[in-house]
Amino acid sequence: MTTSNPIPEILIHIDAGVMTLSINRLGKKNSITAAMYAVMADAVALAQHDGAVRTLVIQGHETIFSAGNDIGDFLNQPPTTPDAPVFRFMRGISSFTKPIVAAVCGPAVGIGCTMLLHCDLIYAGDNAAFSMPFVNLGLCPEAASSLLVPQLMGYPRAAEALLLGEPFSAETALEMGFINRIVPPLEANALAQQQARKLAAKPLSALIETKRLMKKGNASLVAERIAEEALSFSRMLSEPAAREAFTAFMQKRKPDFSKV
Ligand code: COA
Repeated sequence: MTTSNPIPEILIHIDAGVMTLSINRLGKKNSITAAMYAVMADAVALAQHDGAVRTLVIQGHETIFSAGNDIGDFLNQPPTTPDAPVFRFMRGISSFTKPIVAAVCGPAVGIGCTMLLHCDLIYAGDNAAFSMPFVNLGLCPEAASSLLVPQLMGYPRAAEALLLGEPFSAETALEMGFINRIVPPLEANALAQQQARKLAAKPLSALIETKRLMKKGNASLVAERIAEEALSFSRMLSEPAAREAFTAFMQKRKPDFSKV
C-alpha cells in the first residue's frame, strides 16, 4: 500500500491494484485548480504505465464530488495551450486503457460531471446532482461532452443539459444509463472501492482489450472533439461573456449578459 500527497487537495492512494484519487478541497466545494489538475494528470499517467495499478478510482466527499474548475483560477491563469494541466488530465482519462470507477455524491458540476463520461462504472449517492453549466458561464462544453452527452441521452435531453445548463438528479442519471447504481452517500466510496477491487482481480489484458473494443468506434472522435472543444474553450475564457460570468460568481451576484 502506498499513499502520496504531493498537495493536500488531491489524495493518492494505491492498494490491491487500485489507485484511488480523492478530491479533497471541501472548503471550496472540491473545485479544481491548475495545480490539482497537474497532480491528477501525473497520477493518471503513472496509473496508465505502472503495472501495479490495474484500476483507477476517482472520488470526492459524501457531500460534494466537485464544483468543477476553480473559477478564480480560470480568471487568473486560463489554460491556453494543449499541455495545460486541465487538458492533460482530460486526455489522460479519456485515453486511459484500464477501468475507471467513480463514486459521486452531491454536486458534480462542469468537469466534475464531464470527467464521468470517461469512467466505466459510476456509483452515485442519492444526493448526487449533475450539471454542465458551460453556456451559463459564457463557455462551451469540454472533455468531449459535446459528443458524448448527445450520444448518451439523445439530443433533446442533451440540449437541456448543455444549452440550458439544467442540473439533473441521480434518478434521472440512472434512468438515462449515465450511472450504474444509486446508494446512500456514505456508501458510495466503499462500493466504488469494492467494485474496483473486483476488477483489479481480473486478468488485466482481458479488461484492457474489452474496454478498447467497447470504445473503439468513438476513440478517435473523442480525441478530435477534446482538441476542438479545447480551442474554443480557451478562446472563450477570455471573452466578455466568461469574464462577466466569472466576475459575477466571485462577487456573488447574478451575471449580466445583456451586452454580450
Ligand atoms: N470555483 C471557485 N470557488 C468555488 C467554486 C468554483 N467552481 N464553487 C464553489 N466555490 C467556493 C465558493 O466561492 C465559496 O467560497 P467562500 O466560502 O470563500 O465564499 C465556497 O466554495 C462554498 O461555495 P457555495 O457556493 O457557498 O456552496 P453551496 O453549497 O451553496 O453551493 C455549488 C455549491 C457547487 C452548487 C456552488 O458552489 C456552485 O454552483 N459553484 C460553481 C460551480 C460552477 O459553475 N462550476 C463550473 C466551473 S467551469
